Amino acid sequence: MLGWVKAAIHVEPDGAAVAVRALQLVVETLAVDRPTGDPLSIVLSGGSTPRPLYRLMAQEPARSRIPWSRLHVFWADERAVPPTDEQSNYRLAAELLLEHVPIPPQNIHRMQGELEPQQAAQAYQKLLASLAAAGNRWLQPDIVILGLGEDGHVASLFPGSPALAESERAVLAVQATYQDRPAGRITLTPAVLNGAHRILFLVTGKAKRPAVRRALNGPLDPLHVPAHALQPRHGEVIWLLDKAAAG
Ligand code: 6PG
Repeated sequence: MLGWVKAAIHVEPDGAAVAVRALQLVVETLAVDRPTGDPLSIVLSGGSTPRPLYRLMAQEPARSRIPWSRLHVFWADERAVPPTDEQSNYRLAAELLLEHVPIPPQNIHRMQGELEPQQAAQAYQKLLASLAAAGNRWLQPDIVILGLGEDGHVASLFPGSPALAESERAVLAVQATYQDRPAGRITLTPAVLNGAHRILFLVTGKAKRPAVRRALNGPLDPLHVPAHALQPRHGEVIWLLDKAAAG
C-alpha cells in the first residue's frame, strides 16, 4: 500500500504473468452482478504492454466470461492518426481483441484520431456527455487499463502538462513529449479517470524501473509524476509489475 493513494502492487515473474493477472482482474471486474442491461465499461490504452492482455481477452476461457453485449469500450488516449494507421490505439485493440469477440459495433467508442486533435477531443467529450445524458455511468468506468511511459506519462498525460490538473473537461488535445510516436494526441483527463472503480497499471521491462520508482516511492507530485494525479474518488489503483520493472 502507498501513503498517497489506496493502491495495491503485485509483482509477477514476467510480462506473460502480468497479462494473466490482469486478465483475472478484468474478468472479475466485469463479471460483477449488475441488473440485466446495465452497461459495463472498460477504458483501453495503446502501447506495447497491454497487447498480451488483449490477446488473452479474445481467447477462451475469458472470451466466454466477458459480457460483451453489455460492455462499452473507450480509449484512454489516441494518437493523431487515422484508425487504419499502425500507430492507432484503436487499430491495436481492434486487431488483437475487438474483431475476435461478439461486441456490438455501437459499443465501441473510439477517439477519432483522423480529425484535428482539438476537434477530436471535443467530439469525444460530446460523445461521453451524450452517453451520460442517456443514463450511462461514463464518469465511472468499471476498469481502466493504463501503461506507464519511461518518462512517467500515463494515457497521454505527460509530466508537466496542464492536462494533469484538469478537473472539468474529460477529454483534451495535447502534444506528446515522447520521441518515437505521433505528437498530436487526444487524452482522457483525471476528471474522468478518477471516476473509475478500478485502474490497472501494467508495467513491464527494466527500462520502466526509474518511472516506477518515481510513481511508487517518490514524493507526491501530481504535476510531474502523472501517476500521482490518478487517485480514484471511490475506486482503487492496482499496479501489476514484472520483476524487471519492479527492480
Ligand atoms: C500510448 C499509450 C501510452 C502508453 C505508454 C506505455 O498511446 O502510447 O496509451 O500512455 O501506455 O506510452 O507504452 P508501452 O506499453 O509501449 O511502453
